[in-house]
Amino acid sequence: MDKLLIRGGNRISGTVAASGSKNSALPVIAATLLTPDGTFTLNRIPDLQDVRTFSALLEYLGAKVSFENNVLRVSTDQLKSIEAPYELVKKMRASIYVLGPLLSRFGHTRVSLPGGCAFGPRPVDLHIMVMEKLGADITIEKGFIDAKVKGSRLRGARIDFPISSVGATGNALMAAVTASGTTILGNAALEPEIECLCHFLQKMGASIEGIGTTTLVIEGVERLRAVTFDNIFDRIEAGTLLSAAAITKGEITVTGVIPLQLESVIDAFRRAGCTVTTGPDSISLSAPEKLLPTDITANPYPAFPTDMQAQWMAMMTQAEGTSTIIDKIYHERFNHIPELNRLGARIEIRENQAIVHGPQELTGTKVMSTDLRASACLVLAGLVATDTTEVLRVYHLDRGYEKIEKKLTSLGADIERDRYQEFS
Ligand code: EPZ
Repeated sequence: MDKLLIRGGNRISGTVAASGSKNSALPVIAATLLTPDGTFTLNRIPDLQDVRTFSALLEYLGAKVSFENNVLRVSTDQLKSIEAPYELVKKMRASIYVLGPLLSRFGHTRVSLPGGCAFGPRPVDLHIMVMEKLGADITIEKGFIDAKVKGSRLRGARIDFPISSVGATGNALMAAVTASGTTILGNAALEPEIECLCHFLQKMGASIEGIGTTTLVIEGVERLRAVTFDNIFDRIEAGTLLSAAAITKGEITVTGVIPLQLESVIDAFRRAGCTVTTGPDSISLSAPEKLLPTDITANPYPAFPTDMQAQWMAMMTQAEGTSTIIDKIYHERFNHIPELNRLGARIEIRENQAIVHGPQELTGTKVMSTDLRASACLVLAGLVATDTTEVLRVYHLDRGYEKIEKKLTSLGADIERDRYQEFS
């Protein structure tokens, strides 16, 4: 198993390119299941564990997949299975994204329920609601979602989401693009990753209006075709790299990322005393001598993203005062707090609010990753802790960050990867 050894105290400074976005790549890869016509060439696909897991799922279904130099080539003309097995879905919740495409293409699919994750239950009731509204019969048996289309194909419908859901919006789009008639999605997710999926589906021949708004209108079409497509950059990775400069009193430019996609995070950095300037596809940050305590509340886009909440918490341990952090999307997404406190932070939880008392000197020791963004948070804390911080179980980190220790080393961090055995 891998760990990262981080000797804290170095300032992060320099320029680094963001990788392709994980959370747009996964639904885009799923959408290749929608048509047998041709071979897809997907550019700027990050080399991450989740992308390799999704590729393995597509190969299990019978797709032909090749992946090198961040280019993923997929053809799904020879699919041989309609079942997404537990072993793969359990590894990655985003596997639920095959539900819409497989149901739309074959009229029947069986997808394992994903189960929960480190920060609480991750229901899929909205995904099921979508497919039922579009004309599928759904039964849940032996841990599987068994979905069958009534009649010959899915039928367009009006679907109003009670809460904003990235995944359910993505699944609805992929099921609706070849359904018969019109589908209207109300309270659709606005995240840039969903906008990217819409542009990909449009390029494949889908008819989607209202992109970038919370109301999407999809006219079903007969056929879609394989295309070449450039994935967007990863705004959460970019925000994480910006945080590395902020916490170490450094300065950084991250290229590729569109500032608009991180507007709420840029606002928070400025409230914390950072100087942030932006170009068309770059963000530059220079940190103040002393970070100011800055409250954030994670909410659906365009508000502060939940996927940056843990990283922000690491930063606020160094701020000159007390900050409050609330996560309205995942109320229990606080597994990083006990580990931060083991490094010397002083963070308490009161009624779903994290109260971060700063500044606190952090002292390196062994800490355990529990989920993807919690591990990023511990790496950030290690950059500023005295002595050496050992971040264990970095397989969590590898799910969502491409070569992050190489990127941080190029920016001045003293960080290296090592192997270790866990007590059985
Ligand atoms: C996506 O997950 C992201 N994952 C998550 O990023 C991100 O945290 C999340 O959106 C919120 O922005 C990918 O894109 C692969 P949701 P998703 O459906 O689609 C509830 C990371 O670190 N809900 O928008 O699963 C749910 O419990 C990961 O990269 C239902 O109640 O999130 C949550 O409270 C972690 N029923 C809220 O909606 C459902 O059927 C938003 O979840 C589905 C969701």
